[in-house]
Amino acid sequence: MNVAAISPERLSDLLRAMPKAELHMHIEGSLEPELIFALAKRNDVRLRYKSVEELRAAYAFTDLQSFLDIYYAGASVLQQPQDFYDMAWAYFQRAKTDNVVHAEIFFDPQTHTARQVSMRTVITGLHRACVDAQAQLGISSSLILCFLRHLSEEEAFDTLEEAWPFKDMFVGVGLDSSERGHPPEKFERVFKRAAQLGFKLVAHAGEEGPPAYIWSALDVLKVQRIDHGVQAIHDEALMARLAKERIPLTVCPLSNQKLCVFPNLADHNLGQMLDQGLCVMLNSDDPAYFGGYLNENFVQTFAALPLNASHAYQLACNSFEASFVPEAQKQVWRAQLDDCFQQFGA
Ligand code: ADE
Ligand code: ZN
Repeated sequence: MNVAAISPERLSDLLRAMPKAELHMHIEGSLEPELIFALAKRNDVRLRYKSVEELRAAYAFTDLQSFLDIYYAGASVLQQPQDFYDMAWAYFQRAKTDNVVHAEIFFDPQTHTARQVSMRTVITGLHRACVDAQAQLGISSSLILCFLRHLSEEEAFDTLEEAWPFKDMFVGVGLDSSERGHPPEKFERVFKRAAQLGFKLVAHAGEEGPPAYIWSALDVLKVQRIDHGVQAIHDEALMARLAKERIPLTVCPLSNQKLCVFPNLADHNLGQMLDQGLCVMLNSDDPAYFGGYLNENFVQTFAALPLNASHAYQLACNSFEASFVPEAQKQVWRAQLDDCFQQFGA
């Protein structure tokens, strides 16, 4: 690859143009303030904020919990299948402009079932948008059901059971919400059950929590990917294992900055992880709350860190490698990536 041939302006065009997969995006985190207000009106829900501007002004987070409180309140406007469809369709349209060719999308059913919104409403609304994204935008996608880790193991079991009739509409289970004080071990049995049922397994670990949570997500929950995982940098043996076994870490730089995991993007450890051979890729996490969709994560991160076109290529390749799709499909995307780099003379 002729990395030196690319100027900074061309590099940012290349970042935007290259095909990529997004593997860590909470669909409730793509709910833009404008849509929150439109859905609140549609469903006659009273909001604490008087305007879009006032709501946006509240998006000043100090840590994960300060974000989650606002994120769960925002999701309260979602009530009918069409609401879930509209939210997901808006994300897919944005993803199209970012040249996302594949998305594996998290959803948090317990946030909705706790408000008497049925599992059917949630999953069928989202699934219809996934079908339309393939047909109308050429974006493939799948859904991953996340258990809220601040709730109990029993509630996670109930959620899995409720979702079972819709088993063909999601491919995996994940673990999200408040990390500190809720170690992966709490969900050992429900993850074991999900594996027996044939679901893929992922978990948030090492976002704010210690490297020990990454070890136990791998060894106790037996997940195939780690979401975030940036705290692994504090554990040399863990870094060596992640590199050796090519365990994917779905890294979200703008999220990490907004939730004060790193004081600035320039302090992010993405470059170190790439240079140590880890299978990392970029993701937007909750783009409506963190100031940018996937391409914005690429452009801002590359502006802040000493990264070049060869890092960009690696990140896109890793996103395909880590996705839950057949190998033949990954090869098609890698060929498209090569074409794109060739067009840029890289
Ligand atoms: N739910 C939505 N975004 C999340 C994040 N960054 N960490 C944990 N849970 C989440
Ligand atoms: Zn997340």
